[in-house]
Amino acid sequence: MPFAEKELLKLDGLRVTGQSEDSLQFLFTGKLAALNKFKKATVVYLLSQFAVPRPKALLGNQQFAQLVNDIAFVMETQIFKSFRFEAAGKDSSVFGRLAEVLAKALKLVFDPEEGELMLRVRPFAEGWEVLIRLTPRPLSARSWRICNMPGGLNASLAVIMNELARPKPNERYLNAMCGSGTLAIEQGLGSSCKALVALDIRKDALDCARENISAAKLSHIELVQADATTYQSDEPFDVITADLPWGDVVGSHKGNAQLYPAFLENMARGSSDKARLVILTHEIKLFEKLLSQDKNWKLLQSLKVSHSGHYPRIYVLKKVI
Ligand SMILES: C[S@@+](CC[C@H](N)C(=O)[O-])C[C@H]1O[C@@H](n2cnc3c(N)ncnc32)[C@H](O)[C@@H]1O
Repeated sequence: MPFAEKELLKLDGLRVTGQSEDSLQFLFTGKLAALNKFKKATVVYLLSQFAVPRPKALLGNQQFAQLVNDIAFVMETQIFKSFRFEAAGKDSSVFGRLAEVLAKALKLVFDPEEGELMLRVRPFAEGWEVLIRLTPRPLSARSWRICNMPGGLNASLAVIMNELARPKPNERYLNAMCGSGTLAIEQGLGSSCKALVALDIRKDALDCARENISAAKLSHIELVQADATTYQSDEPFDVITADLPWGDVVGSHKGNAQLYPAFLENMARGSSDKARLVILTHEIKLFEKLLSQDKNWKLLQSLKVSHSGHYPRIYVLKKVI
């Protein structure tokens, strides 16, 4: 959260009023559309709160008028054609009725699966709240992403990992195990580096990354098909980022027990004395055990982050010389 918070606080007229493990609550007096440009926040909602005992009460005159008013405010900034609910009990008759009357009042189609305007309804301490998503897609869903892969990284987290790696203009950057290219692309769109290389063992991953790189209109990312446990470049890298296989959607826990130590060792061999290695993984036990035995990398920072319902960690490592 400190990363998203720093980005939010750059906006005039924004004051943080509350915080949880993976969200910030704030008051904002500026133009709503200014909130759609965040790179590090995954999603931004307008919060509409009601002191009512159950969702059925949202159908009451006063509550319904407030809800329609708040949704209409969000609809002034974006074109939405349809809406949907995210809520426990969203298939109940109460939500069915709410969908019916909202569709009429807002002139939107109710599409329970693909609705663009997402309304998250949930209880809070004093009643029920509706979180109205400001954009048809989450902010982390970048327009350059035309190819996705299982296990693809959230672009907001990629921006944060790159910030933690602090690549400088005279440094060489490697995105090892790049998959669809998220880390390399966000770096390419951010600050400049002397070289930007994205590497994966699989051709289909590189084909996917190539499509995304082209959609992002970037021409300076070199794609390499190689095994990250043996690959060596002619010149060492100063910054290495990797979203390692977690052993569920991509790879296996058994395979990771071999892959992770071999990767750490090879990256130490192929990097400069000032190298930083920034890793994202959900294999927390394995990775921390390896780090406790590793002589090449020193842990500078570890951060618990939220990603698609999981809580992986980002590890920031510095080469030991
Ligand atoms: C979790 S995915 C990376 C997803 C990526 N960050 C993205 O945004 O799409 C892990 C990637 O590691 C690659 N990989 C696995 N073992 C590898 C190895 N030994 N060398 C290079 N790449 C490898 C897989 O092909 C896969 O694309």
